[in-house]
Amino acid sequence: MINAKVIDVFLKINPKKYRYLKNTKIVTMRISSEITKAINDQISYEASSTYAYIAMGAWCERIGYDGSAAFFFEQANEENTHMLMFIHYLNKAGAEAIIPAIEKPQDKFDSLESTFQAGLKSEQTVTKLIYNLVDMADKEKDRAAYSFLQWFVSEQIEEETLFQTILQKFEILGRDKLAVYQIDQSLASTRTQVMAKKQIKNNPQSTG
Ligand code: FEO
Repeated sequence: MINAKVIDVFLKINPKKYRYLKNTKIVTMRISSEITKAINDQISYEASSTYAYIAMGAWCERIGYDGSAAFFFEQANEENTHMLMFIHYLNKAGAEAIIPAIEKPQDKFDSLESTFQAGLKSEQTVTKLIYNLVDMADKEKDRAAYSFLQWFVSEQIEEETLFQTILQKFEILGRDKLAVYQIDQSLASTRTQVMAKKQIKNNPQSTG
């Protein structure tokens, strides 16, 4: 699949050599350049989030917080999936998804709690970006983009709630070594429960 603009460029470079492209299946652009740019920015943010969570997981693993390491590595997988969803969306809409360069993420933290604070802050930023995208789609009456983005709206509610719930554990149990150990231990199962819930949400028929 190729879009008309790309074909024009090749035909201008060498009309003889690329004349076969005239018969190529053309994907019509079904998305504005503004939304395309905003989704490409989102792809970039999801990619950075993927690396940020890998860095948090690696820090936890090094320190010995194995439950949290498992949590963050799985969170990184989710961000990677989000990035791919946006990439597929743009390509299928006949636009061009841009694969971004990624800056080195923060890889040192003061405490286990601070990794979750950083995670919550990042999720709050994603929520704002998603809402901004929804507003753009609404303003442009781009129903396809609007509908596609609804999944991310509910995903962000879950993500923020998840991080807030984990941070509450520090308020309830405290921050001494035993409390932090218990919180860390609880996180591997927290992630399993979240994944099970998401599977039901994404595949309601899988519950029988
Ligand atoms: Fe892809 Fe957690 O936002």
